[in-house]
Amino acid sequence: MIINLSEKHSLLSNWVSELRDVEVQNDRMRFRRNLERIGEIIAYEISKSLPYEVKETQTPLGASDCKLLAEQPVLATILRAGLPLHQGLLNYFDKADSAFISAYRKHGSDGNFEISVEYLSSPDIEGRTLIISDPMLATGASLVKTIQFFLDEGKPKEIHVAAAIAATEGIEYLTREIPEVKLWCGDIDEELTAKGYIVPGLGDAGDLAFGPKTQY
Ligand code: URA
Repeated sequence: MIINLSEKHSLLSNWVSELRDVEVQNDRMRFRRNLERIGEIIAYEISKSLPYEVKETQTPLGASDCKLLAEQPVLATILRAGLPLHQGLLNYFDKADSAFISAYRKHGSDGNFEISVEYLSSPDIEGRTLIISDPMLATGASLVKTIQFFLDEGKPKEIHVAAAIAATEGIEYLTREIPEVKLWCGDIDEELTAKGYIVPGLGDAGDLAFGPKTQY
């Protein structure tokens, strides 16, 4: 299931536009905050699909039957670019557990790359709702590898992926490899460069959020 949140106009498409804008990108704090706001909206949209229970809540004036989230999800992200989107999800799912994984593109001298996973810190995900944030779903290689890592640890009840921008090729790869996944994205782009960057995309989300790195 793919949900492109820009199909209907909302404030979210304004924030995706700011993420893409080379002028606005000079403001690193705004870049991170826009990712965070998109994470908040995606959290709200996902929450509508999650099970709830009714609990009687006492107000100063009486009792109210309130609908409450029945179970807390596990929010996972891929270091480092996923952190602002993850923070946005955590702002709304404020009682959730978090999981972190490091997955990065290890480039060879021939220009090709393989995905290297080196760090995983996660609660038990067995039977739980897993929401993975990955701001730029490009080839889908690191996301699929990440999900496979999690699946080696346990079987979640549901897997949701939150992305700011997803490329068609990555969506096809993800849904082919892990068909049960539900993808929530801020927008969908058609192209990838030879190096796996999304076109028009926005550039390198990790560098724009946290500054350039020396490792590639
Ligand atoms: N990661 C990014 O930060 N940008 C892309 O375009 C693809 C992957």
